Amino acid sequence: MSEMPQKTAEMPESTTEPTTVPDPLDEAAIGVAVQNALAAIAAATTLDELKAARLAHSGEKSPLSLANRVIGGLAKEFKAAAGKIMGASRGRVAKALAARTEVLEAEDAARILVEETVDVTAAPRRRQAGARHPLSTLQDRVCDIFVGMGWEIAEGPELESEWFNFDALNFKPDHPAREMQDTFFVEPPEAHLLLRTHTSPVQVRSLLERELPVYVLCPGKVFRTDELDATHTPVFHQFEGLAIDKKLSMADLRGTLEHFARQMFGEEASIRLRPNFFPFTEPSAELDIWHPGAKGGPRWIEWGGCGMVNPNVLRAAGIDPDEYSGFAFGMGIERTLMFRNEVGDMHDMIEGDVRFSEHFGMEI
Ligand code: DAH
Repeated sequence: MSEMPQKTAEMPESTTEPTTVPDPLDEAAIGVAVQNALAAIAAATTLDELKAARLAHSGEKSPLSLANRVIGGLAKEFKAAAGKIMGASRGRVAKALAARTEVLEAEDAARILVEETVDVTAAPRRRQAGARHPLSTLQDRVCDIFVGMGWEIAEGPELESEWFNFDALNFKPDHPAREMQDTFFVEPPEAHLLLRTHTSPVQVRSLLERELPVYVLCPGKVFRTDELDATHTPVFHQFEGLAIDKKLSMADLRGTLEHFARQMFGEEASIRLRPNFFPFTEPSAELDIWHPGAKGGPRWIEWGGCGMVNPNVLRAAGIDPDEYSGFAFGMGIERTLMFRNEVGDMHDMIEGDVRFSEHFGMEI
């Protein structure tokens, strides 16, 4: 009694597309399965497609694998013949798969090489870094000039007490600058706080904080209740100079400011002092600069205020005016930028348009 091929538990359950298992002894049927496999392998143009072809034609559930499994259940005398047919057929398919794999892998490697090529000669893409604001650059330049003379940079708060901003600087209680129209007072009124109206309060702070002698430059933001227009802004910048030592005179003030003016405006620049009044200096002067590169030709330009520090200011800082004396000066940075670099309109300085800043470069 010949044994009939038997379905085993490993055989696939019929799916919607029932796989017809070719008879391993039917060379023609097996030949068709081989041809189908070779055609699918040849048609695969990517490694993914080849993987699908491998699964369909030599995977566990492929016709050839299923036919191969049938051999185990065949009668002894048929096993050898079936084994030979199946062995040769599956060998052809395996060989075709290996050859096609080699070709497609080589193609893939070549494609990746091209795709991932790095052009080492290409120019790097630069990120737009913007530009420093010309007011900052100018402020740095002023600081550098004084640091070059051995001075120190001092800072004070923008929210200041009325005492430092006015009283300690010898402003009388009824001085008009204390009026609400000029000064931003900060609530509550009994705290006596305000947004500093000038950098001069840093004079007294520096004298209280430092050992004598004192040579400081104090740059910073100041606030006044001005409307914004071409020449005014409620927030602007000043720099304040203060030198307190033994035996300082008006000649030291003049020499310092002249040196500073030449550093800022060139060797032909000079200065002139005109009598004026400030509560915190005595005598006080208006400082004019002879600007050799002024628009429309060289001329005198009003630059700032200065003078010998009033003894009352020294006393407020606990310093004996008979032993120490000194000078002070203060200028606006916006104003300096305007006439030094021909900026006609304050709006340009506060609008933050990078094209305005870029125009000055990184150094002015
Ligand atoms: N603080 C004055 C202002 O804002 C400027 C000034 C004048 C400062 C004379 C000084 C000085 O140090 O001595 O208008």
